[in-house]
Amino acid sequence: MKTSIILAALAASALAAPAPGPHPQDIDFSDLSFSSDDLSTGPEYGTTKETIPVSKPSTSDIVDDIKSDPASPTKKVRRNLNALLKRVPGECAPQPINNGPQFINLEPADWQAAVEAAYPPTNPSTLGPYTKVFDGLKGSVNQIGYRGLTTIHAYDIEACKTLCDKKAQCLGFNFYVERDPSLDPGDLCPNPSIITNYKCTLWSFPFLAGAADNIGQTRREFKVVIAASVGYVKPYAASNLANFTSFGVNLYGSINAPLLNGDNTYLGVKNYPNSDVNVDYFEPAVCAAACDAQTAYNSRHHASTPCQYKACNFFDAYVVLKDGKAQGLTCTLYTVTWADSYAVNGGQTRSDGVYKVANSYTYTNSRLPAPPYINTCA
Ligand SMILES: *[C@@H]1O[C@H](CO)[C@@H](O)[C@H](O)[C@H]1NC(C)=O
Repeated sequence: MKTSIILAALAASALAAPAPGPHPQDIDFSDLSFSSDDLSTGPEYGTTKETIPVSKPSTSDIVDDIKSDPASPTKKVRRNLNALLKRVPGECAPQPINNGPQFINLEPADWQAAVEAAYPPTNPSTLGPYTKVFDGLKGSVNQIGYRGLTTIHAYDIEACKTLCDKKAQCLGFNFYVERDPSLDPGDLCPNPSIITNYKCTLWSFPFLAGAADNIGQTRREFKVVIAASVGYVKPYAASNLANFTSFGVNLYGSINAPLLNGDNTYLGVKNYPNSDVNVDYFEPAVCAAACDAQTAYNSRHHASTPCQYKACNFFDAYVVLKDGKAQGLTCTLYTVTWADSYAVNGGQTRSDGVYKVANSYTYTNSRLPAPPYINTCA
C-alpha cells in the first residue's frame, strides 16, 4: 500500500523540494559508488530455468570494509570492478520445447504485434501487495538483485507472482514473452525456427519501467525480441533487528537531516555491493552492522576530538534507482534519530540520469543510553 503511494508520487515525477535551512548531508546520488560487475543482472540468453542464491555478507566483511573505507560526511569515489564470465552457447543445440501458445513464422516486428494483440497491456494495477510499475513493454528487466528465471507455459502472471510470493527476499517480478530460436544459432543453423517462451524473472530489489531495457539480441541471423513485458514490485516487510528498532513504514524518500543545534548528525553513506561486500538484496541488517562498525571505527579514530567521538544511533536503508534501475543498498548513518517528516529526498535529476529513492526504511539504536557523542575523558 505504502509502495503504491510512493510509486504514484514517483510516477508523477514529484521530486521533493529541498527543505529550508542548511542540509549538510545533501547527497549527490550520481556520485554514489556501487560495484556489482561480479553479480548477475539478469538471465543469459537461452536460459529456461535457474535459481540464483542471494549473496549474504558476513558481519566481518562489513566491519573490514568500514575499516578500509569508513563512512564520511564528505564524499569519495572508489571503484574496483571484476570481469564477468559469460556463458558460451553450444552451436545448434536444441532449445527446450515450449507447449505454450506459439507465434511461429513471424518476423520480429510482426511477432511483437501479434503477441501484443493477444496480451494487451491491461494487466491489473495491483495484485495483492504488488503494484504494477510497467506493462506492455518490449524489454525485460536487467539490473542488480536477479534471483532467477522460470519458463511458464502460458501467459500467466499469477503463476509468476506465486513464485515471487514463495521466494525469500523477492521484491518484484517481471513476466514477458520472448521470441527465441529453437536451436542455439551457429554456423550450421544461423537462423533457426521460432520458439515463443513465457518467462518469469524474480528480483530482490525494486525497479521502475527504465529497468526493462533488455530489448533482445541478434544471435547470428536470429533476432531475439521481447513483447508484452509487465513488471510488479511489492514493499519490503520491515521488522525490528537485533539492537535496532524499525520505524516500520516505507517512507516517501530518504532522510535529509538539517544541522541539530549547529551540529552535523550525519556520519556518511555506505553503498552495497562494493568491492569488499557483496549484497544483492534489500537487507537493512547490513546497514545495522555498518552502523555499529562505524561507531567502533570512530572510537579508534578521533584524534582531533580526544575526549569524545560520534556514535551511530540511527540509519536509513534505501534503494537508489537510476533511470528506473536499482543501484543497490544504500545506508545513511546518523548520530540521532530523525522523524519520518525528514524523509523528503524522493530523488534528483542529474546530468547523467534521473535518480529516485525507493524502499526507505529507518532504524533506531535500541540499546540505551544512546548518546550522539561518547565521552572518553570522564
Ligand atoms: C547487540 O548489542 C550487544 C551490545 O553492544 C552486542 O554484544 C551484540 O553483538 C549486538 N548484536 C548484534 C547482532 O549485533
